Amino acid sequence: MPKIALNQIFDEEDILPERLPERIQRPVRIKRSHSAFVDTFLQHNSHETLGSEEEFTPTYTGSRHERKWIMGYLTPFYESGYISDVLFRVKGGKEANVYCCKAHPSTGLERIAAKIYRPRMFRNLRNDARYRQGRTYLDAYGKEVRDSGAMHAIAKGTRIGKEMQHASWLQHEVQTLELLSGLGADVPRPLACGENTILMEYLGDEQTAAPSLQEVRLPQKEARGLFERVMENIRIMLHAHRVHGDLSAYNVLYWEGQIAIIDFPQAVDPRGNREAYPIFERDVERICQYFESYGLRVNPTAQARRLWDAYRGAVELPHEREAEDILMRRQPED
Ligand SMILES: Nc1ncnc2c1ncn2[C@@H]1O[C@H](COP(=O)(O)OP(=O)(O)O)[C@@H](O)[C@H]1O
Ligand SMILES: [Mg+2]
Repeated sequence: MPKIALNQIFDEEDILPERLPERIQRPVRIKRSHSAFVDTFLQHNSHETLGSEEEFTPTYTGSRHERKWIMGYLTPFYESGYISDVLFRVKGGKEANVYCCKAHPSTGLERIAAKIYRPRMFRNLRNDARYRQGRTYLDAYGKEVRDSGAMHAIAKGTRIGKEMQHASWLQHEVQTLELLSGLGADVPRPLACGENTILMEYLGDEQTAAPSLQEVRLPQKEARGLFERVMENIRIMLHAHRVHGDLSAYNVLYWEGQIAIIDFPQAVDPRGNREAYPIFERDVERICQYFESYGLRVNPTAQARRLWDAYRGAVELPHEREAEDILMRRQPED
């Protein structure tokens, strides 16, 4: 991956310091959690009373620009008692920065990962129409946008419309993580989100975050088991009507023999997206390619087809029915 200079990551235009305070909404708790931990946490804690009275003075702040980001986007989570410190930056990239934070003791966790999106990142997504096809738009609270004025702003690409698109991508990531973690898939559990930020379970320890599969050489004896585990996760996702859409060894973390699949904003739902199969097949291919270097020879096309056929046996995809209807109508009458 190309190295990006810090001043490219945190440019002034992204930060908009004078607008930050009102742009930051209060953190939203993940409400419809399937997670026993989050539910218990919510029942027993009122976040308003948990936050520290003391000023937020994180250990890690980075450069002057990055400091503004951290203070701007993470202070609300400090004040409402999710995190008590920012320990280090796990990764900074073109799309998001992820930080390792010390969790507030009331969360019962030791550390929390905070993913802060670059404000303009979703506008840079290449080919994003392919992933948006058939999607509902979600507002900053994760509710479906139905208002015709809002839909018009989105279609027109006005400034507000772009902000709404941005919120929608982020909410899609949150909801996908929520759905899949509830089903027992190997994904980090989401805890809370804000306008530009998702807090989720962190993989790693106090010094090092979990590397991606791309960054490790797996012990040979673990390779087959992990390959099967990733494929099983792909199957669980598909039966939950989700195709990752950017799955590769870069988006699978590895920690102490366990994996976690991350990075879901572009995930697609095959029930609404006609391109879901080619997107799915590419995900499977990339995973198979990675495991080939461990001597695992599988036919990615056959693997993808097998999983897809099992899924298709269980659901009816409306757009495929439409296509069949059109074909039927074209048949010459006897
Ligand atoms: N829950 C997590 N725990 C530990 N590290 C994480 C976590 N989520 C993301 N990361 C790290 O941050 C990087 C970027 O996160 P990702 O969701 O893939 O965003 P991007 O869109 O920038 O690729 C990942 O490659 C990984 O190194
Ligand atoms: Mg990624």
